[in-house]
Amino acid sequence: MSATAWENHLRTLDPRRQLIVPGDKEAYLDFCVSQWISIAKQAIATCGHFAVALSGGSTPKALFSRLAQDPYKDALDWGKVLIFWSDERSVPPEDPDSNYRMAMDAGFSQLPLNPENIFRMHAEEEAREEAAHRYEQVIRSKLPEGRFDLIMLGMGDDGHTASLFPHTEALGENERWVIENWVEQKKTWRMTFTYPCIHQARLVAVYVSGAGKAEMLKRVLKGTDEPLELPSQRLGTVENPVLWMADAEASSLLD
Ligand code: 6PG
Repeated sequence: MSATAWENHLRTLDPRRQLIVPGDKEAYLDFCVSQWISIAKQAIATCGHFAVALSGGSTPKALFSRLAQDPYKDALDWGKVLIFWSDERSVPPEDPDSNYRMAMDAGFSQLPLNPENIFRMHAEEEAREEAAHRYEQVIRSKLPEGRFDLIMLGMGDDGHTASLFPHTEALGENERWVIENWVEQKKTWRMTFTYPCIHQARLVAVYVSGAGKAEMLKRVLKGTDEPLELPSQRLGTVENPVLWMADAEASSLLD
């Protein structure tokens, strides 16, 4: 895919939100991976590196594993890719629940990344607030223009995104970029990007696939405005619209 070819598939839903539906699951994953590579190539060509924030979730996982396969694994100068995470569970990196571990196991450990360019969220630390501040400082020091090239997100079955869960404190954060967030629904701490962080990215892409997401996707994109109940509904600004990437099944209830 050429640098901007994927943009021809954009559908504008409203001033804050755009949608691409490439087809069934297979076509969808192919499209998402080649789009990812073309965004990365363009960023490397223009600013010398590609800064991306990964997310947890099943769809990104499928995407990560394709990145490590032919023809994609040789398609990029991986030494110029800077990897961050948009959220993390409060577990050490070797835990099966860790988003860091998921990304590594799914594919990134097989790619020739520079270890110095892999920035894990230390969400397992007791001093959570300090760890979150430290992560924000790392981001600000590594991204001189203060902008990610791509922030990847998913949408949970309850409408959450990153670790911005319904009615949690992090939803009201207007200054910090990274914050510790108590998630009562799961009785656990998470660390997460906040809306101010998400909305500074050059591109924010939300990956949603499968029939199980169809109802929620319809509610989020077409339903009544209830951003505290459905945090993913608040994604996107007029200046920086969010891109929803859905497969045919997940988008089947949209008009
Ligand atoms: C996490 C996530 C989370 C995820 C969604 C979607 O750590 O749980 O980052 O926000 O992306 O829950 O996950 P699925 O694609 O697996 O439904």
